[in-house]
Amino acid sequence: MTDPRFDALLAAAPGLRLTTERSDLEHYGCDWTRRWTPAPLAIALPASIGEVQALVRWANEHDIAIVPSGGRTGLSGGAVAANGELVVSLERMNRVLAFDPVDRSLTVQAGIALQAVHDAAREHGLQYPVDFGARGSCTIGGNIATNAGGIRVIRYGNTREWIAGLTVVTGAGDLLELNRGLLKNSSGYDLRHLLIGSEGTLGIVVEATLRLAEPAPPTNVMLLALPSFEGLMQVFAAFRERLQLEAFEFFTDRALRHVLAHGAQAPFDEVHPYYVVAEFAAGDGAHEAAALAAFEHCLDAGLVSDGVISQSDAQAAQLWRLREGITESLARHAPYKNDVSVRVSAMPAFLAEAQALLAREYPQFEVVWFGHIGDGNLHINVLKPEALEAADFVGQCESVTRLLADTLARHGGSISAEHGIGLVKKAYLEGTRSGAEIAIMRGIARVLDPNGIMNPGKLLDR
Ligand code: FAD
Ligand code: MLT
Ligand code: ZN
Repeated sequence: MTDPRFDALLAAAPGLRLTTERSDLEHYGCDWTRRWTPAPLAIALPASIGEVQALVRWANEHDIAIVPSGGRTGLSGGAVAANGELVVSLERMNRVLAFDPVDRSLTVQAGIALQAVHDAAREHGLQYPVDFGARGSCTIGGNIATNAGGIRVIRYGNTREWIAGLTVVTGAGDLLELNRGLLKNSSGYDLRHLLIGSEGTLGIVVEATLRLAEPAPPTNVMLLALPSFEGLMQVFAAFRERLQLEAFEFFTDRALRHVLAHGAQAPFDEVHPYYVVAEFAAGDGAHEAAALAAFEHCLDAGLVSDGVISQSDAQAAQLWRLREGITESLARHAPYKNDVSVRVSAMPAFLAEAQALLAREYPQFEVVWFGHIGDGNLHINVLKPEALEAADFVGQCESVTRLLADTLARHGGSISAEHGIGLVKKAYLEGTRSGAEIAIMRGIARVLDPNGIMNPGKLLDR
């Protein structure tokens, strides 16, 4: 640790854990994108709000860029440090601070894993309903910074719905306590919501007060096989009409093949082009009868061709694995990820156009579709052929993403539904947000982070 600038930092925060070990720089300098070579200046692992504040003030004095870092499961390059930044990992700030049974809230440090929040809520007979496959590694701070969605948005909404209060160290080094857990607060601009989805560009979230929900009802899981893409939204409508849906997730046979190659068990004897995992409130015969009625309606209409309903928790978990295992099973193909959304009502028209566009423009690539179809959110992953250099592959994918962004703009959609803009989608932000909006975003960033030290180069250029 020879950099003399660190002396001032360690004088201001004597107990601060700071490392420049090569293995640490590599470990903390990248996220799941793996597209950039990690090259941070150092990694700081603060254990208190005081240390975070000292870090931010020091970074301002020395004009050093900060990359806030959670579990680095992000898929947009938001936590990448490839340009001599200081990575501020919240991993040591990972405790539950308080539970309030009257407010039904949990106050936590930002570095706590999502799974640990689920466990803590369950211990108190409640649930924290934001959920997705990276639950064991991603952190609440990262979830807030990306406004993470996941598999239960259809029922419970995004992370934004569950944040009752935030404690934040801004890019200027100020400590803000936003909304303080209030349910009602009509006292002007709600700065909490500016921080949610800000991708580490405005400040560092250090603590959060999370709303908790009634425990989830007993549920059942159904896997449906579909003969065509066109009927997908009609199947969704048929199930939603008859059941309290907790999740409605879609994937293609290509996606399934990758998960099966990864060790999962085939759900049907025959191969079908498309699949849906539907989870619905169950527990009494009436729900199961309604599920059966929805299934039979779809079968009669030729919208589904087969189906299986879970008979145990273990079987439900097995069915979920077919959907949740997709990201990991694709990872070794260095996928180029598109994470797009349109209003659910615009989904059929968008789907038809996007499918035709991608079939026309990507004939040479394997394209894997899956996603949270009930939220109007599709993940379109293009797999890198082994023979193609990474840079050429990304170049080709980006020119098609430009067309996809234009299609989305025509349908009033978004180039990032839930992963964030980060580095990977920065060039396409203008298709989703107007020039006036982007100018306001820049102005907000200047107020909260006047020296531009917070995650520069991510989300938008300032
Ligand atoms: P990181 O990757 O560490 O960081 C993400 C962004 O948040 C960066 O910009 C970073 O600078 C910023 N940040 C992190 N912590 C803080 C903080 N304390 N204060 C301020 N800024 C901060 N996402 C979904 O939305 N839905 C899904 O269904 C989903 N499924 C996934 C499944 C798998 C298998 C994987 C690998 C990822 C998945 N993701 C999903 C993406 C990812 O898990 C989420 O974006 C998650 O919210 C990132 O959390 P993290 O702690 O890993 O954040
Ligand atoms: C998912 O829905 O599985 C996640 O968003 C991860 C991904 O898109 O790969
Ligand atoms: Zn997703």
